[in-house]
Amino acid sequence: MIINNAKFITSVASEKNFLVPDRPMIAVCGKSNVGKSSFINMLANQKKLAKTSSAPGRTRLVNYFDFEKFILADLPGYGFASVSKVEKEKWSKLLEKFFERKEFISHIFALVDIRHEPTNDDKQMISYLYYHAIPFTIIATKADKLPKTRVKDAVRKVANFLTVGEGDIIATSTENKRGKDEVFSLLDKIVMIAEQSEEIDE
Ligand code: GTP
Ligand code: MG
Repeated sequence: MIINNAKFITSVASEKNFLVPDRPMIAVCGKSNVGKSSFINMLANQKKLAKTSSAPGRTRLVNYFDFEKFILADLPGYGFASVSKVEKEKWSKLLEKFFERKEFISHIFALVDIRHEPTNDDKQMISYLYYHAIPFTIIATKADKLPKTRVKDAVRKVANFLTVGEGDIIATSTENKRGKDEVFSLLDKIVMIAEQSEEIDE
C-alpha cells in the first residue's frame, strides 16, 4: 500500500459528531505522548498532518484522517497525570463511546513506549479490547531510543506485561522508520479483510 495523499478530515469533541465511516476505519490509541500523532505522520509520509507535541495531552479530540483506502482516527491520549479529574472523566467517556461503536472499527493500533513498563491504563485498554473482541496490534514506539540489540528483549517484556504474543507487537520508530513496512503489510491485510466482510454483508 502506498499512501500519497492523506488528508485531515475533521476533529470532534463529542460522540454526536463521530464520523460514520464509509470505508474501513483504523484507530490509534495510547497514553499521552506515546507517539500517536507522530506514528500517523509516518504512515502518511508527512511531517505535520497530525499535530505532535513534546507537551503531553495535546490531542483532546478525535481527529479523523482520510487515507484513501481507510479512515484513520487519532484518539485522545489517556493517563495524563496533570489534568483535572473532570477532564479525565470526559476523555474516558469519549473513548468509551468511540469503542462502543465497534462495528465501525476494523482495527486498533494500541501504542506503548518500548522503553517503559506498560501502565495500568495500558493494561486496562488492552483488556477492554480483548473483552469487546476488537482486533488490535500493539505498536511499541520510539524503538530508536534503545540500542538495536535491546529491541527484541524490550518487545518480549512488553508482550509479557500485556499478556499478548510477541507476534502481536511491532516495534516502530518515526526517526529511523523501523517497523514501517511491517505496519503497511498489516494495513493491506486489514483493508482486504474489511472489504471482504463488507461483500459478505451485502
Ligand atoms: P498526545 O496527542 O499528547 O496524546 O501525544 P501523542 O501520543 O500524539 O505523541 P506525539 O506524536 O505528539 O509525540 C510525543 C513526543 O514523542 C514528540 O516529542 C515526538 O517527537 C516524540 N516521538 C514520537 N515518536 C517518536 C519516535 O519514534 N522516536 C523518537 N525518538 N521520538 C518520538
Ligand atoms: Mg497526538
